[in-house]
Order: sequence, then structure tokens, then C-alpha cells
Amino acid sequence: MTAEKAPRLGILVSGRGSNMEAILQAAALGRLGATPVLVVSDNPQAPALAKAAQRGVAIAVVRRRDYASASEFERALVAELKGAGVDLVALAGFMRVLGREFLAAFPGRVLNIHPSLLPSFPGLHAQRQALEYGVRVSGCTVHFVDEQVDHGPIVLQAAVPVLPADTEETLSARILAEEHRIYPEAIRLVAEGRVRVEGRRVWILDR
Ligand code: GRF
Repeated sequence: MTAEKAPRLGILVSGRGSNMEAILQAAALGRLGATPVLVVSDNPQAPALAKAAQRGVAIAVVRRRDYASASEFERALVAELKGAGVDLVALAGFMRVLGREFLAAFPGRVLNIHPSLLPSFPGLHAQRQALEYGVRVSGCTVHFVDEQVDHGPIVLQAAVPVLPADTEETLSARILAEEHRIYPEAIRLVAEGRVRVEGRRVWILDR
């Protein structure tokens, strides 16, 4: 660790929140290198909200439909996060695409997790796409967010086998276990300043 202060982490969610829980758990164990200070959902019904509150993390809801345009919605998200002093953002099952407005507020500081080995199978239902395509190996990817969907520079990936008897559910569960392992690890690398990005390449220092 450097002498710098741990980044203040904001987590954006829309649903279940199992990756968020893995991140909060890592923080509770002192293994995240960042301090989760706010969980924001665009969906007031997201089970993630109650889970975050249970762990004592502040929560907020910012609904897209309360704003006339995508950029107003993004400005409201930024205002919530900046108001909490957030300087690192993790998307954890956040079901909206963020644009220039949002990314400009946190340049190089927004991470996402996707349940495939990118660049294979971006977008929705990545596990179903992998099964239907017939790949023998799939996995998950933590990457920096840019303006294209599931596209930015890759920090960490983990692979899992695709087995003949797999259903979307069994494959998703196998991948999810790896998501929960690599997302907190990737956040820690970024939080500790051990990641350097050059174009698409991400260099991890002192591993
Ligand atoms: C995960 O599979 C994640 O990779 C994808 O959305 C899902 C969110 O699950 N982006 P959870 O809300 O973290 O349980």
C-alpha cells in the first residue's frame, strides 16, 4: 500500500447485488484497498439496496424516468456519487449504459464486471450466448468502462469450463463464483495504484 488515502468507492447496481456483496465483504475483511461509501441503484426494487443497508453502507436511488434525458440522469448519478466523495466507481450488475457525461466525471476510474471472456459475448445474456455458441471455455472479465458496451481495457479475467450438461443456470453459477473472486481483487489493484493503462493494455505492477 502507498501512503495515499484509500479511494472512496461508489457501487452502481440494478438488481440482486451478489457482486456488490462480495465487494463489501472484501472491504469488511480489509482486503479491498478502497472504502465503499455509497451504493446507488436505478431500480428502487433492487434487492441489492437492502443488502447494502444491512451492511451499513449508505444507499441512494436515482431513477432514469425521473429525468428528461440520459445526460440529466447521468448528472444526477454523478451528483450523488460526488456528494459522497466517491473517486472510484464499480458497476455491479448496473443495467444501464453510461455515456460521456458520466465517464468524464470519473476518468479512468469506472470498472465493470461482465460474465464472459471479452471480447466474446458482450451485451445481455452472455452465459446463454456462450452456451448457444458452443464454446468449451467461458468466464468473466473486469474491465475499465469506456463509451462502448463491455469494451474497455481489461484488468482481470478468469476462465471456467463449459460442461456438456450445463444449463444457463449452472454455467452462470460457475462463472459467478469467479466474478466474486476477481472483482474485489481488481478493485484492490486499481485502488492501490498498481494498474497502468496504455491504450488497450493494462499493466499490473508488483504482483
Ligand atoms: C453478473 O453476472 C455481472 O457479471 C453482470 O450482471 C450480473 C449481476 O449480478 N454484469 P449481481 O447483481 O452482482 O448478483
